[in-house]
Amino acid sequence: MLKNALLPDGRVADISLADGRIIHVGTTLRADRTIDCTGLLCLPGAVDMHVHMRGGETQGYKEDWTSGSQSALAGGVTTVVDQPNTIPPLTGAGAFQERVAEATRDAYCRFGINGYVSEQSDITGLWEAGALAFGETFAAASSYGDAVSPDELAQVFSGIAELGALVTLHCEEVLSGDDTSLAAHAALRPEEGETTCMEMVAAQFPPGLSAHFCHLSSPLSAEAALMALPASYEVMPHHLFLSIEEHGTVPDGYCKVNPPVRHEATRKALWEMWDAIPVIASDHAPHSIEEKSQSFSAVPSGIPGVETMVPLLLAQVYQGRIALSSLLEKVVYTPAHLLGIPISTLLPGAPADLALYPRQKTETITEDMLHSRAGWTPYEGMQGVFPCITCVGGHLSYRRNEFSRRDDLWIPGRGYKCSQVE
Ligand code: DOR
Ligand code: ZN
Repeated sequence: MLKNALLPDGRVADISLADGRIIHVGTTLRADRTIDCTGLLCLPGAVDMHVHMRGGETQGYKEDWTSGSQSALAGGVTTVVDQPNTIPPLTGAGAFQERVAEATRDAYCRFGINGYVSEQSDITGLWEAGALAFGETFAAASSYGDAVSPDELAQVFSGIAELGALVTLHCEEVLSGDDTSLAAHAALRPEEGETTCMEMVAAQFPPGLSAHFCHLSSPLSAEAALMALPASYEVMPHHLFLSIEEHGTVPDGYCKVNPPVRHEATRKALWEMWDAIPVIASDHAPHSIEEKSQSFSAVPSGIPGVETMVPLLLAQVYQGRIALSSLLEKVVYTPAHLLGIPISTLLPGAPADLALYPRQKTETITEDMLHSRAGWTPYEGMQGVFPCITCVGGHLSYRRNEFSRRDDLWIPGRGYKCSQVE
C-alpha cells in the first residue's frame, strides 16, 4: 500500500494494490506492506510509444533491453514501444519472435514491439506474431531505415487498414548537400519538406487507415497532420528543449537527429501550440560517445531521451508553464488509447503502473545520474523531476537506483495468435 500519496487531482490518499492492480484509492485498507509516500506525487506510468532499444547481435554497445528499460523506469516510463529498424529489421514473424524473446529475457518495463514496413514485410505474419503497430515507416531514409516509395506505401497501407492496425510514419524530404553542421543538417531536411512528405503520404491513405505521424518538428507539420485527419502525431522533447542555437554544452554532433533540431524561433513556436499536441514520445535513439564524436557528416542521427522525457516536462509543470493534466494526456492516456493497451488511470481496477515523484523539487540533470548505455545527454544542466519509485503491475521495479525484474511484461497487439492455442 502506498500511504499518503499526492494524486494528480490534488487529493492526498492511500493507494492499495493487489494482484498487479489498484484495488482502492482513499482510506486505508489492511496491507502486508506499506510504503510511506508523504511528500511524493503519484502519477500513472508513462507510455513512450517511440523508442529504439537497440540490442540484438550487434547494437548492444549502444543500448540493450536491460539498460534501456532500466533507463525508462528511472524516468517514470512503465511501457515502451520499440521501433523495428533493428539489425536485421523486423520484416517477418521469425525476426519478430526473436525480438520478443530477447526483450522478454532482458526487459524491466512493459514493452510492445512494432512491425517493420517495407515491400518485403509480411504484414499479416507480423500482426499475428503480436506486432503492436506498424512503423515507424520510413517515408524518408534515416539511421537504420531505408525509404519506402509511395507505390510500396500504398500497397502496404491497404493491408494494414484491412487488419485495423495503427501505422506510424517518419516523414521528411532529404536534399543532397554537405551535412557539416546542425544548421546544414536542418536545411537538408527542411521543415517544409517534412510537411510535403506528410501530404504525399496522406494522399496514399486508404479509407479507414489509422495513421500516426512520428516526431513532428515544427508547427507547420502539426497543422499538416490536422489536414490528414484522423491522423494523430507526436512531438519529441528534443524539438521542445534543443535548437540549433541553444543546445547546452554538448558538441553539435550529439544533437544530430532526424528530423533535425530546428532554429530557436521554431522551437518556441512549438511550445506555443503545446495544448494541441496529442502525444509526446522520446524517440530514444542511443548512439555511443565514439560514434557521436566523429566528424559531423559521419555522425549517426539520434538522441537518447526515454529517461529525461517526463522529468524535463514535469519540471515545466512545477515551474507553472504547463498543466499536469495536459502532460498526462500526452504521455499516458492518448498513447495508450492510440495503441489500444490498458490505461493506468490510478483508479480501482487499473494496472498498478505508477511512479512517485518528489513534490516541487527539481534536480539539475547530469549524465552520471542516468542509466542509458549511451553515457551522454544533451540535457545536461537542465532541470528535471525524477521518480524515486516506479511500480510495474504493482511490483516495485525501481527504487532509488535499484531495479527488480518481473515477468509478463510483453504487450502483444490485437492480432496476436498465441501458438499455444490450438
Ligand atoms: O534520428 C533518428 N534516429 N531518427 C530516426 O528516425 C531513427 C533513429 C535511429 O534509429 O537511430
Ligand atoms: Zn524516426
